[in-house]
Amino acid sequence: MAFIQFKNVHKQFDRKVIFEDLSFEIQTGERVLFQGPSGMGKTTLFQLILGFEKVDSGTILIDNQPLSPAIIKGLRQKIAYVPQIIDWGQGVVKETLEEFMSFQSNVRLTHWREKMPELLVYFDVESSLLDKKFPMLSGGERQRMAIILAILLDRNFFLLDEPTAALDSPMKQKVIHYFSERKDATLLVISHDNEWHRLPAIKLIPLAP
Ligand SMILES: Nc1ncnc2c1ncn2[C@@H]1O[C@H](COP(=O)(O)OP(=O)(O)OP(=O)(O)O)[C@@H](O)[C@H]1O
Ligand SMILES: [Mg+2]
Repeated sequence: MAFIQFKNVHKQFDRKVIFEDLSFEIQTGERVLFQGPSGMGKTTLFQLILGFEKVDSGTILIDNQPLSPAIIKGLRQKIAYVPQIIDWGQGVVKETLEEFMSFQSNVRLTHWREKMPELLVYFDVESSLLDKKFPMLSGGERQRMAIILAILLDRNFFLLDEPTAALDSPMKQKVIHYFSERKDATLLVISHDNEWHRLPAIKLIPLAP
């Protein structure tokens, strides 16, 4: 079944046209890589899917239903989103994690504490980082924490906006390897990193001016 369909989507900010007539389809279970120049509208595309921005004309269908306020909440609850700019506020990392996990949509996740050590090891994050205030974290540490959180949410639709931009090459490979093993997942990735082309069965959707 088509998870997402864009049909003739038009989006502009003031007089700047971002999408003129954008159409594509993503099936459940597919792995898709969006690539295009900076400022092309890739992040805006995710914002449209998540209902943080609205189309000017055209249609977005989710599971064959038009994206509307009635379905946005359910959609957001099934997607794990790694934003391009990761902002967990000013607090201590582990307290912020506890707070995210106490949200109503996450209270069913009773085993996340047990699952975390293995992910910290895999993504090469020292556990002492959990005791630091988020603003002290480096860009790469923030990115890895956001990926770990997305995984802990135990959802199988991922929207990853430049998830490897701040990582060194071996760590990029590890992230890509992790997602290549997630055969259950529908994956939408925005990335300038060509390493993502190595993900088996990945489909490229170029966003060109
Ligand atoms: N809320 C907004 N109001 C006005 N303009 C916006 C808004 N959001 C994005 N834009 C503009 O829309 C264009 C597309 O932005 P977007 O962040 O989607 O690009 P991008 O392809 O993700 O770029 P990058 O590769 O640099 O992350 C940019 O010119 C940006 O300034
Ligand atoms: Mg962007």
